[in-house]
Amino acid sequence: MDNSIDQIYQKALQELKAATDRQAVEDIRVRYLGRKGAVTRFLRNISDLPADQRPVAGKQANQCKKLLEKACKEAAENLETVEEPAVAGIDVSLPGRPAPSGSLHPITQINQRICDIFTQMGFDIAEGPEVELDYYNFEALNFPKDHPARDMQDTFFVSDDIVLRTHTSPLQIRTMEKQQPPVRIIMPGKVYRCDSDLTHTPMFHQVEGLLVDENVSFGDLKGTLTAFVHQMFDEQTSLRFRPGFFPFTEPSAEVDILCVMCRGKGCRVCSQTGWLEILGSGMVHPALYENVGYDADRYTGFAFGMGVDRIAMLKFGIDDIRKFFENDIRFLSQF
Ligand code: DAH
Repeated sequence: MDNSIDQIYQKALQELKAATDRQAVEDIRVRYLGRKGAVTRFLRNISDLPADQRPVAGKQANQCKKLLEKACKEAAENLETVEEPAVAGIDVSLPGRPAPSGSLHPITQINQRICDIFTQMGFDIAEGPEVELDYYNFEALNFPKDHPARDMQDTFFVSDDIVLRTHTSPLQIRTMEKQQPPVRIIMPGKVYRCDSDLTHTPMFHQVEGLLVDENVSFGDLKGTLTAFVHQMFDEQTSLRFRPGFFPFTEPSAEVDILCVMCRGKGCRVCSQTGWLEILGSGMVHPALYENVGYDADRYTGFAFGMGVDRIAMLKFGIDDIRKFFENDIRFLSQF
């Protein structure tokens, strides 16, 4: 009898030692201490023993039972810490912490929208260098050296004949040098001018457009820009073409749209004029065709250049352009 409970106990301990996970420990506990377990059965059978043996056997069996319960508990705890140290103490029912997701910069959004509208009309997209030769930025665009029109743009000079491009127009020349008409292309990019206030930053964004083919007229320019403005803003946004001057277009026009804030009544944004200037445009000057080797008698074309930041300010109702470039997440996350 003594031997028997002791044997049961020793065997259980051996099995516990060999257990490698908590489920194995639980199985052992049930097999020895459960309702039909070996220790439980032993206790139940004590009443069959001769009366004088019962007290000792009962005491020993109860002691074994207690020790075994303790051993099972310890074995389970040890396995718990050895097996899953990192998981211990984690409440898997807690709601997760959301990872904040970013969004496209408002300038990027408007840039993409502009490009989408023109690519739907059949324009291709081209890009070019921001550090540009004086030749492409000025000379080939019909700005002769010492021409007063160079003062229109406060240029950052890298050296005598290298500048940070002051506009995206040099890409007109770069494109035409590589490609024969028909040319139908838009050119988005960063440009640089030494200027800084509420509506100017030293770096800003433009999208240039160029279309050259036979029989292209000013009417095509008007139709293209009108279709663009109606898609970018809405059908009620009318356009106004004002005579302007650019050395690389003749005739040239500056294009205004009806003020998107006051719809022409006059407000602070449009300086009480009811109109907002959004781009420069015109018919490509024949001098450019000569510079790139096109036949100026055969081809005509139009070009335009618009300020992306200005359009973004109007679309989103922002009055200080510098906000776009401060990278303040509270500002950017609103778009
Ligand atoms: N490059 C001019 C500027 O930055 C804008 C411009 C005017 C572009 C007329 C053109 C154009 O293509 O035809 O002020």
